[in-house]
Amino acid sequence: MKTSDVSRYNRIALGINAPIYAYYAARILEKTGIGSGSCLDVGCGGGYLGLALARITALDFIFLDLSQDMLRCADENISAYGLTGRAVTQLGQVQAIPLSDASVDLVISRGSVPFWDELSTAFREINRVLKPGGHAYVGGGLGDPKTRDAIRGQMEKEDPEWLENRRTLPRHDNRHYSDALEAAGIDSYTLDRGDDGMWIVFRKE
Ligand SMILES: C[S@@+](CC[C@H](N)C(=O)[O-])C[C@H]1O[C@@H](n2cnc3c(N)ncnc32)[C@H](O)[C@@H]1O
Repeated sequence: MKTSDVSRYNRIALGINAPIYAYYAARILEKTGIGSGSCLDVGCGGGYLGLALARITALDFIFLDLSQDMLRCADENISAYGLTGRAVTQLGQVQAIPLSDASVDLVISRGSVPFWDELSTAFREINRVLKPGGHAYVGGGLGDPKTRDAIRGQMEKEDPEWLENRRTLPRHDNRHYSDALEAAGIDSYTLDRGDDGMWIVFRKE
């Protein structure tokens, strides 16, 4: 992404799109019950989902992304949200997560998985860094229908090409994800395409 696109993405994520992250943060806490320990936000961008989850939990965060520009935003956001000491950024790829085995309680990721190549390696890596009993919550969407409709309306005013640009984002069918999960040795998972997006959830055995 160009620097101007990164700062625009950051502005929209913290503004118009903030309810999306608040919605998923609440869902993740409700579904996993993990409110303390360590959380890895993969493909974090400026850390938006983790920042929202930090507000409602006592979790500590590692924000991982392959883009140094996005991590610069994450560093600024960590400081602006008063999370210095609870969150660090880490440059890296999901296919080679620079963390030890069994080191995190929760892995979260929104809006990044459609971009991952070597998908089975990515899921194997997520499973490797999870502690036994830890959860992964990976997927994407614009929140529940009420949130999504409100965001759509605001984004179409902000950018008339928004809808068209969204149509060009990579999309994959369930088989693409289930083949990769199973190749990674993850046999027990849920893959839901509900009214709040596409989400893959699994628990480390
Ligand atoms: C659409 S943005 C989503 C950012 C943020 N999670 C959000 O919900 O707004 C996708 C992010 O995934 C990151 N990304 C893509 N492929 C990645 C990979 N293989 N490993 C780590 N990060 C990746 C990109 O750099 C980008 O910041």
